[in-house]
Amino acid sequence: MVEKLTHKLDLLNLNSKIIGKKVFHFNKIQSTNLYAKKLVNENIDEGTIVIADVQTKGRGRKNRSWVSPYGGLWFSVILYPDIIPKRGMAITMAASISVSQAIKDITGLKTKIKWPNDVLLNDKKVCGILTELNADIKKIKNAIVGIGINVNNKVDEELKEIATSLKQEFGSEVTSLRLLGLTLENFDNNYEKLKINDFEYIKKIWLSYSNIIGKKVKITEENTMIVGVVKDIDDNGYLILKTDNGIKNVLNGDIIYL
Ligand code: BTN
Repeated sequence: MVEKLTHKLDLLNLNSKIIGKKVFHFNKIQSTNLYAKKLVNENIDEGTIVIADVQTKGRGRKNRSWVSPYGGLWFSVILYPDIIPKRGMAITMAASISVSQAIKDITGLKTKIKWPNDVLLNDKKVCGILTELNADIKKIKNAIVGIGINVNNKVDEELKEIATSLKQEFGSEVTSLRLLGLTLENFDNNYEKLKINDFEYIKKIWLSYSNIIGKKVKITEENTMIVGVVKDIDDNGYLILKTDNGIKNVLNGDIIYL
């Protein structure tokens, strides 16, 4: 039996300061990120979330589609972070650790975070994050953080090599509402650190879920490709790579461990 979130969201009872104070819930919607954009244009409160049982046009990074059937958690968080644009990546990092902490609390399973934003279990993707930023030169005006977690839903046959669900890895169904609640509370806490520019806090937790330091990687982004050994991540979430042509800082791309 796949659990529907309808009518249950009022049980969330969050212990949070900003995130999740206002919730827009849909049985079916094209994309929660898209609806969140509309709400941002109406100046909706910071921390508002949009959640749907099903997305018909779920979107992933690089305009890929994101399969979003019943049983998964598909939601977007609206933020107005008063931080410099270069720190944008830290928002996604805060989101990925929030999901990882919630998964660990509920199932005891330790996720791995694959730079920049994938949350993995047994090397397969269980959660993806699409952060859409709107910034001017000085600051990020708004951020829509779209989070998709395969919870109790079936994973498409053609994605089975690269994706998994929590149910599959845990061995039984996971309560979506509890996972949502914990993720939002963690995000609220981690976002607070970001707001006071405590990136070290986010980075330390992020690194505890990542095994990237010291790894040789290949990163491709559009027409560029870069190979190097990961030395660290900098204060803006860029990867610091030691390459044959010296040190390079990389913000985006698809990563392969060599
Ligand atoms: C990725 O490519 O890994 C990011 C996937 C993000 C999916 C989530 S589901 C909720 C929100 N709404 C969307 O259309 N996408 C994000």
